[in-house]
Amino acid sequence: MADREALSQRLEALRDRIRFHQQQYFVKDQPTISDAEYDALFRELKALEDEYPELITPDSPTQRVGGAVAEGFASVEHATPMLSLDNAMNTEALREFEERLQRLIPDQRWRYVVEPKIDGLGVALLYERGVLARGATRGDGRVGEEITQNLRAINSIPLRLKGPLADLQRLEIRGEVYMPKKAFAQLNRQLEEDGQNPFANPRNAAAGSLRLLDSRESARRPLDIFLYNLGYAEPNHTHANHWEVLQTLADAGCKINPSITLCDSIDEVIHICQSLEAQRHDLDYDADGAVVKVDSIALQARFGATAHHPRWAIAFKFAAQQATTRVLDMSISVGRTGALTPTADLEPVHIAGVTVSRASLHNEDEIQRKDIRVNDTVVVERAGDVIPQVVRVVLDERPADSVPFVMPIQCPICQTAVYRPAGEAVARCPNAACPAQIKERLLHYGSRRAMDIDGMGTAIVDQLVDRELVTDFADLYHLDVPTLAELERLAEKSAGNLVAAIDRSRERGLARLLHGLGIRHAGERVASILAARYHSIDNLMQAPAEELAEINDIGPVIAESVQQFFSQEDNRRTIERLRTAGVKLDEPVAKSDAAPGTQTLAGKVFVLTGSLPTLTRNQARDLITAAGGRVTSSVTRKTDYVVAGQDPGSKYQQAERLAIPILDEDSLQQLLQAEG
Ligand code: IVH
Repeated sequence: MADREALSQRLEALRDRIRFHQQQYFVKDQPTISDAEYDALFRELKALEDEYPELITPDSPTQRVGGAVAEGFASVEHATPMLSLDNAMNTEALREFEERLQRLIPDQRWRYVVEPKIDGLGVALLYERGVLARGATRGDGRVGEEITQNLRAINSIPLRLKGPLADLQRLEIRGEVYMPKKAFAQLNRQLEEDGQNPFANPRNAAAGSLRLLDSRESARRPLDIFLYNLGYAEPNHTHANHWEVLQTLADAGCKINPSITLCDSIDEVIHICQSLEAQRHDLDYDADGAVVKVDSIALQARFGATAHHPRWAIAFKFAAQQATTRVLDMSISVGRTGALTPTADLEPVHIAGVTVSRASLHNEDEIQRKDIRVNDTVVVERAGDVIPQVVRVVLDERPADSVPFVMPIQCPICQTAVYRPAGEAVARCPNAACPAQIKERLLHYGSRRAMDIDGMGTAIVDQLVDRELVTDFADLYHLDVPTLAELERLAEKSAGNLVAAIDRSRERGLARLLHGLGIRHAGERVASILAARYHSIDNLMQAPAEELAEINDIGPVIAESVQQFFSQEDNRRTIERLRTAGVKLDEPVAKSDAAPGTQTLAGKVFVLTGSLPTLTRNQARDLITAAGGRVTSSVTRKTDYVVAGQDPGSKYQQAERLAIPILDEDSLQQLLQAEG
């Protein structure tokens, strides 16, 4: 039992370290260790908990994402209603707001806190003795929906509070869930690529994601939160002012908005509201205004609230992000996966400081639903600063001779008949050799975050493909200066630079290569997870889909897609040609003593159980994978060795039953050195 005790302590210490680093990364945006080191800690905890499931605690960092699919969401009545805010449409209305307050309590001065008004979803988090017990949507303000499972998956929500707030019997914390703009743009691209309907704006995307019944799906959506208020508390909290509340929340580990300001006067409030509006486009979240709150909690109580909104707070609304303009033309572009995306060319119009001349029309369904036609007058919106969208048509202005839009039945680039799979909203060009697709794939391959080939922009790629100099990635590595110097707009010197840039890309390593290959569903993050796990493309290509699907954050859809990619003859051939061209197909293994290239355990399958005397589970795993072996979680007939330490558990018996060799740490080390 003493061992159990020690093990529990070790688990808790690991959890604390992970919580600390989650805070640094997700809340403070100041990571102090590398992603790889963090992943290693997380994997170590996961492996130990897999081994000793009885020691898992609900507030463990591994327990954010739950298993079951909900049938619906239960209703939750809020202890105190979640009110909405009164609006101030201009600065004059802010002065009137102060005058109203002065009439209610004359001869008194107060300060204000100004915060961005996040265009997301209000939620209430209930903590019991510091542990997250329940989370709910605002709903109609009185009754919301219980979405605890989905909220737990938001990494910046603490599963456990720190400091004095953790001692309260019950405490409700309120805030706003949102989807960062960049993440929103990427989610929409992904949805469009998958043939699904994109979201109109980050707010809808956040709402849709929070209300997914499958919490694992919801966990994959990039949601974040800012917390801004204490609700009901038992025993009651005693804070003199709102500014202090926000600091207390931050100390408890909650993410609070960094752009908050304490103001001495309404003039200062106005100044801050205006400067927030001027900065709104630089923020990675959609803010539709600024919230102005009286700082003193005692005064807040005296001002009170109407049935709808508190009298001590007001929302200063930013200028609308909409404008009216005309559709000049509708054109179709073909993406990397063959998706046909319609775009509207617009008569240029200014929206909140930017000139807009194009808008995404997403897909055929969207166009039909809104019945958008050439020459229509339309309302255009900048949604979360991404590609502007057509909100609706102003039908009164429609010309008499207008005709409905029809999607082409042939690819506008290669004339292949397009197809639209049942249940999907996107029409695709099925021709993988379509020049438009090749161009997009090459641009992606050479993009900064993939193989980073400097100087390989659209003008060059267009010519390379049009002149049939390049038809797949591997062709790039056979280009020479004389060939490139023949291209338009490419002098000898730039041709030399491009050849050198292509040459340097050979060394980028597996993660960037996988990203660059553009496997569906496998973006940058998935690529680096796969690279960290398999170290070489050969290991990855051999991995069964079930094994891939078991990896944290991968799941069956990605697993299937990766396997499908590598099963295609064309792709395998490209990879062989990349290999011949000297492109690096592996990723260096961190913290390993094994000499590079020694694959003494190639193809061997290991299972680890119990705690080893000197190696951590991760170190053991890294040594084995560095030597070409694989570590899986359950003992089957396919297992070659079981490495057992102290307290080995049922896997040991299973190994005995199946007569699989059982090694201790020493024998593992010997095996590793044997042929190495
Ligand atoms: S304070 C009683 N602060 O705006 C005070 N609300 O239109 C009400 N919101 O329901 C909440 N950012 O969901 C507050 N910094 C912020 C906010 C914020 C966004 C939302 C909130 C509220 C809605 C009111």
